[in-house]
Amino acid sequence: MSEIKILGIESSCDETAASVVVNGRTVLSNVISSQIDVHTLYGGVVPEIASRKHIERINQVISQALSDAGMTLDDCDAIGVTYGPGLVGALLVGVAQAKALAWAKNLPLVGVHHIEGHISANYIENKDLEPPFLCEIISGGHTHLVIVKDYGEFEILGRTRDDAAGEAFDKVARAIGLGYPGGPKIDKLAKEGNPEAIFFPRAHVEEAPYDFSFSGLKSAVLNYLNKAKMTGEEINRADVAASFQQAVIDVLVDNALRAAKDYDLKVLALAGGVASNSALRAAFEQACGRENIRLYRPSPVFCTDNAAMIASAAYYEFRKGNTAGWDLNAVPNLKLGER
Ligand code: KG4
Ligand code: ZN
Repeated sequence: MSEIKILGIESSCDETAASVVVNGRTVLSNVISSQIDVHTLYGGVVPEIASRKHIERINQVISQALSDAGMTLDDCDAIGVTYGPGLVGALLVGVAQAKALAWAKNLPLVGVHHIEGHISANYIENKDLEPPFLCEIISGGHTHLVIVKDYGEFEILGRTRDDAAGEAFDKVARAIGLGYPGGPKIDKLAKEGNPEAIFFPRAHVEEAPYDFSFSGLKSAVLNYLNKAKMTGEEINRADVAASFQQAVIDVLVDNALRAAKDYDLKVLALAGGVASNSALRAAFEQACGRENIRLYRPSPVFCTDNAAMIASAAYYEFRKGNTAGWDLNAVPNLKLGER
């Protein structure tokens, strides 16, 4: 079997997604049904609503992914599905669906770690990229700095101690009245602001040089806004957005480049929703250019949640023989490197 076609399914948060990928790298289809419009009404993801929407949409999304690829389930060699981490009810919808289809068609089933999926997004557009490399995963739920030693094998150098970077973006956006999801809105507004207008702290964790902490920064922004409100001072929202964003970027660039130097790694990949931020991409390009580090970053559509990245990760797990049994279950707090 020289061509392995995997149907990937993703439902860990608020995107219902399905995709067909050949040999982990070639995307035949990539269908994403976002629930953002529904959750926007509540200012964030409502888990129960997310689960219900996944149930409503998943059949249609999978059919679309197969028809876009010009295939039926009978042409698939395996099914890969995100089984954690994420919202338990949301994950369960994808896992149950994947199990039912795999059972019905007698196909191998592969359980995929969502973060491993984000990392694998880099393989899709970069056929030459192979481990080892350094990867910074910057999403709404996670901020990790890891060495990808081999496909599916990670050494975790650092992680966030409190909020994830995307979470900080979402909370600050809400505080300045931008609504959900905050990342793309701050990205846009920051273009009109001055990143040096307000100094917000850049936290470094003393005893763990590659760890992150964003809750102090978030509090500093909230304090700034409260103080302005109390004194009746008018705030410039674009300056707040740009200054906050710059503080996040500085820490993300600093930690990644320090790790690259310390571990003598010349290849850095970015992953996760925040990696689609335009100022962040420009900052990494500049810093990596200066330090002679080869930078990989997925196109924005592969940074945020999608199922092509899940099918790609599933391929490498499948090749290693890591298939799941019919007892595969959703694991909401699944750790990276665990199966
Ligand atoms: O990776 P992702 O789609 O889902 C998780 O696994 O968490 O990341 C979603 C996060 C959200 O916090 C969202 O605000 C943020 O990524 N995000 C961005 C941008 N686009 C999405 N943050 C900053 N700038 C963006 N352009
Ligand atoms: Zn994600």
